Amino acid sequence: MAHDFPPMKNDLVLRTAWGEKVERAPIWIMRQAGRYLPEYHEAKGNRDFFECCRDPEVASTLTLQPIDRYDGLLDASIIFSDILVVPQALGMTVEMVDKKGPHFPEPLRSPEEEQYSRVLNKSVDVAAELDYVYKAITLTRKKLQGRVPLIGFCGAPWTLFCYMVEGGGSKFFVESKKWIYLYPKETKALLQKITEVCVEYLALQVQAGAQMIQVFDSWAGELSPSTFKDFSEPYLRYIAEHLPKRLAEKNLERVPMIVFPKGANQSLDRVCDLGYNVVGLDWLVDPADAVKVRGDRKIVFQGNADPGILYGSKESLTATVEHMVKGFGGGKGQWIANLGHGVTPFVKPEMLKFYLEEVQRVSSQ
Ligand code: CP3
Repeated sequence: MAHDFPPMKNDLVLRTAWGEKVERAPIWIMRQAGRYLPEYHEAKGNRDFFECCRDPEVASTLTLQPIDRYDGLLDASIIFSDILVVPQALGMTVEMVDKKGPHFPEPLRSPEEEQYSRVLNKSVDVAAELDYVYKAITLTRKKLQGRVPLIGFCGAPWTLFCYMVEGGGSKFFVESKKWIYLYPKETKALLQKITEVCVEYLALQVQAGAQMIQVFDSWAGELSPSTFKDFSEPYLRYIAEHLPKRLAEKNLERVPMIVFPKGANQSLDRVCDLGYNVVGLDWLVDPADAVKVRGDRKIVFQGNADPGILYGSKESLTATVEHMVKGFGGGKGQWIANLGHGVTPFVKPEMLKFYLEEVQRVSSQ
């Protein structure tokens, strides 16, 4: 089922991700579609968040909004969806509560619960359960007309696990910590289950038209170096190893793979060896220090300015961009510009535009 998509007019981000020398740093922004954009609220109307994700027409409209608004300034689009569609496919109920974030009415609280075995033993039809995502991807690829590549994504097993046991965002990660320290074996079984669904999900996103994929490990920073090694790394590595295999079985070409283990900078050296082409960095690591850790490995970095610079002055923003470009060794390869995490609410769209312009200007010098 190969698609006939329009030819690419801008493939800068793909060439960079494969490790080629380039003319300037490509740039895209995590959460570039979303609440800070007035047109997002307009298009969303009073629809529920997951309703938007499930409607390919709406999801593709939302994906394209930043590409249209920042015409020529963004080098990639990312499909409008959420990492929590995977727990939904595993049979869990997830709601998005206005101004509060995701909520699981029945989180997994212990391996003795009937729900634990149900999730663990569910035979998930990843194609059918998440069909709406693939439809949104294919439609978006067509609408993009080759302007920029389309990124697909999933949550990392560890991060999805946290949501499934906490039932939402968390401050102390009490439930996640109980699971790893009280029931390590059962935790690992569940992580493996999530991982296998993620591999198939990513392969089907590529089949539908995604040209690069990112694995978001937003809660990696809650683990110590040694628990990160036990409860996150093996599953991230499994995805990096098995996705290319799965694509080969489907006669699909490989795509560049990005891993973003937010907060796990203490493990950066090991993360560079997980098998991903690109490693996303948050703003707690200085670009030059990350480059030192990387050494002569072929890894491409992505990131990493503090999203908070968008609340500041233009002068401080320019200084941050200059520091970042210098630290990553200029914009001629091995670096994809982004923020160190998603763009936050209340950011003025004009400030994000200035960030995109400054990265393009400084990184082409
Ligand atoms: O533009 C893009 O980056 C694509 C869309 C995207 C969304 N979520 C849309 C969204 C992506 C890539 C995600 C990933 C995601 N979802 C992550 C990983 C990235 C990260 O931020 O660490 C996580 C942890 C989630 C789970 C999630 N979804 C949370 C915690 C929240 C609520 C927090 C918040 O910012 O309100 C969401 C909701 C969500 N996902 C919104 C959007 C646009 C806001 C929904 C709304 O209120 O309209």
